[in-house]
Amino acid sequence: MTTTKTLIAPSILSADFGKLRAEIEDVDAGGCDWIHVDVMDGRYVPNLTIGPLVVDAVRKATQKVVDVHLMIVEPERWVEPFLDVGADGITIHQEACVHLHRTLQLIKSKGKRAGVALNPGTPEDTLRYVVGDVDLVLVMSVNPGFGGQKFIQSQLDKVRSIRRMLDGAGNHDCVIQIDGGIVPDNAALVCEAGCDVLVAGSSVFNKPDRKAAIAALHRAGDEGRARRHQSRA
Ligand code: DX5
Ligand code: ZN
Repeated sequence: MTTTKTLIAPSILSADFGKLRAEIEDVDAGGCDWIHVDVMDGRYVPNLTIGPLVVDAVRKATQKVVDVHLMIVEPERWVEPFLDVGADGITIHQEACVHLHRTLQLIKSKGKRAGVALNPGTPEDTLRYVVGDVDLVLVMSVNPGFGGQKFIQSQLDKVRSIRRMLDGAGNHDCVIQIDGGIVPDNAALVCEAGCDVLVAGSSVFNKPDRKAAIAALHRAGDEGRARRHQSRA
């Protein structure tokens, strides 16, 4: 595995867009690892958010990894525009992409992190023929579209199963990311199950002290990872 500690990726979906730059600077200074950007098209998900113009502004506000989560149909049409404005990684939904393998290869061919996301109802078996190629698997622990929803417990098993699949394929560089309803109280559990990167929207941006919120997630996540490594030893 490439990460030695739990990575925290605050989702700007819960930020105050009236002062987006200051919000990003706050979580950046507060010790986050990545900035997670939720792109929604009003078709794949029942919400409409941001495009490359905003990602361009995010890129200019931080040196941290800009992690773009595309919740859109035909994501292949938008890979290059988002990479052109400085995204470090693009995650596409398995359910929204007819040519999944081709689109992952497109992202990788640009030297960027290629991720695939699965909705809560999508089985992990759909990854079988791309599991050796992906750099990131995103397990949705809520139905995509909105921040502030409740964590869906059944996704823990999916995380365990994906971790086994990646190990079986010898893909030790791929990280598992989880997105939706993550709070310090479940961060240890998801990391014990196999997660490396925690997306957190409301549990960071809705807190007055973002530094403390990020630290609590780091701490809980690292505890869970330590338990996983102990049980494997
Ligand atoms: C949901 C988005 C998430 C969302 C997470 O569709 O992909 O990134 O912002 O928000 P919380 O952490 O509040 O569940
Ligand atoms: Zn997301």
